[in-house]
Amino acid sequence: MNIQLDTTGDLFLSSDLKILTAYQKSTPSKDKKAKDETQVSVDHWQDKGLVEEFEGLKSRKNFKAAKDEMLAFSGALGETVWVVGLGEKSKYTSEDLRKSVAKVWKSAKASKFENISFDVHGLNAHRDEVETIRLITESVLMTDYTFDKHKSKKSEATQTNLVLSHFDKKHKLKLDKVISSTKNICDSISTMKDFINEAPNHLHSEEYAKRIEADVKKHLKGVKVKILNKAQIEKEKMGLFLSVNAGSAYEPRLVHLSYTPAKATTKTKHIALVGKGITFDTGGYCIKPGTSMAGMKNDMGGSATMYGAFRAAVLEKAPVKITCILALTDNAINSLATFPDAVVTGRNGKTVEILNTDAEGRLILADALDYACDQNPDYIIDAATLTGACLVALGNQVCAILGNDQKWMDEVLSAAKAQDEYMWQLPIINEWRQDIKSKVADIKNIGTPMRAGTAIGAAFLEEFIKNDIKWAHLDIAGVVDSQSHLPYCSAHGASGLIVRTLTHLLVNG
Ligand code: BES
Ligand code: MN
Ligand code: ZN
Repeated sequence: MNIQLDTTGDLFLSSDLKILTAYQKSTPSKDKKAKDETQVSVDHWQDKGLVEEFEGLKSRKNFKAAKDEMLAFSGALGETVWVVGLGEKSKYTSEDLRKSVAKVWKSAKASKFENISFDVHGLNAHRDEVETIRLITESVLMTDYTFDKHKSKKSEATQTNLVLSHFDKKHKLKLDKVISSTKNICDSISTMKDFINEAPNHLHSEEYAKRIEADVKKHLKGVKVKILNKAQIEKEKMGLFLSVNAGSAYEPRLVHLSYTPAKATTKTKHIALVGKGITFDTGGYCIKPGTSMAGMKNDMGGSATMYGAFRAAVLEKAPVKITCILALTDNAINSLATFPDAVVTGRNGKTVEILNTDAEGRLILADALDYACDQNPDYIIDAATLTGACLVALGNQVCAILGNDQKWMDEVLSAAKAQDEYMWQLPIINEWRQDIKSKVADIKNIGTPMRAGTAIGAAFLEEFIKNDIKWAHLDIAGVVDSQSHLPYCSAHGASGLIVRTLTHLLVNG
């Protein structure tokens, strides 16, 4: 797709689909005598010729400009005009904007329009044009994503032009900049979605590490890449990580990426991102039933989310130092696979009784977190599809956050709020810290069944954070895929959510 900023209105004139908007002036009056048409506001249209055409339409009588209501007509130049209802202006939020743009974009693509222009001014509501253009671009780019690599018949590759008609030359530089930033972020979201959507027989740990390395080499100049193989992971004494990999046909990989901003000083913040990269979770000997196992290719979603955020932040020249640590393996079974009851020593020396081989994410993260602490970051944040319990607690729409430092969690929560991504904090209480004490080892990898599973997982991870480093954990088990309530995310497959929150956090220092 090609994105063009139109500051003169010339591209708007020549496009074959013009998308304009209309607001309801206020809540429709109960007074039966009040004429409906007076309720619809199109005062913001820049093209006054179109206002006249609109006002002459018979079909306008029934058009109330309710949210997502649409009125289509043919313009005098033979073009198609869609007037999208946005409801009441005062109630129109940034998330509403993403949603209406996504819906209208899907319809426009389905109707095979090639030059599609949005009247930016009409989507402004209460934000400035920079923010409006950012939101339109973001929504279109997220909505436009497809994954058809394994289809013999690809989706038709007609070149679509998205025209952002702004009718004002004043802020051109700023607007060009926001479009290119949004492209960086959305391109990183598409990259991480490709990783998640890839089939597990194609994307095993060794291949995944190679694809990340190739992407870094191609797009992220100046980033240092270190990839630890099995022998090096053994040398690091990552017993817990290796115990998960024991039943695998593939070697584990620990991806270690480092980015330092150009103007770094000793005061520059250092943030470590850590991601769970289980390329497929069978459950191990505690094998999952078939119906829960399908979909477990997404169990590397935490690593993909962290890579996506790292990539976007580097492209956006974030002012912070970033270390990105991704632990990659599948959780498979063969005669060497770890038995339940096994006792294994982690990199930090703690012994763990592995009572359930399906609670594997916390095992690989334990060693990855300990390794991350040794890079001396000021802050750590990890992301993982860690627990099914997270879906029970927060549904598949809300990301859970837990951690050891309220201020750090608040920063993450406010980044999520700024990006309209749902995130909610769950507590870690001492009783749950006690619940993972083991009779035969220092700790065990599960707590009381059916009790606070998401927090138990976090309490386990907390055991591997040292030197009082501020740490936050994101359980993305619910939000990683199938966000059918968000029209800019696919109803099936990777959602790309949380990358925006993390990028916001990193880029705003
Ligand atoms: N990858 C799963 C968690 C998961 C479940 C993610 C459903 C997405 C959808 C994780 O490794 C797992 O199996 N967790 C167990 C933990 C339990 C054994 C303590 C779970 O949630 O059942
Ligand atoms: Mn599991
Ligand atoms: Zn898992």
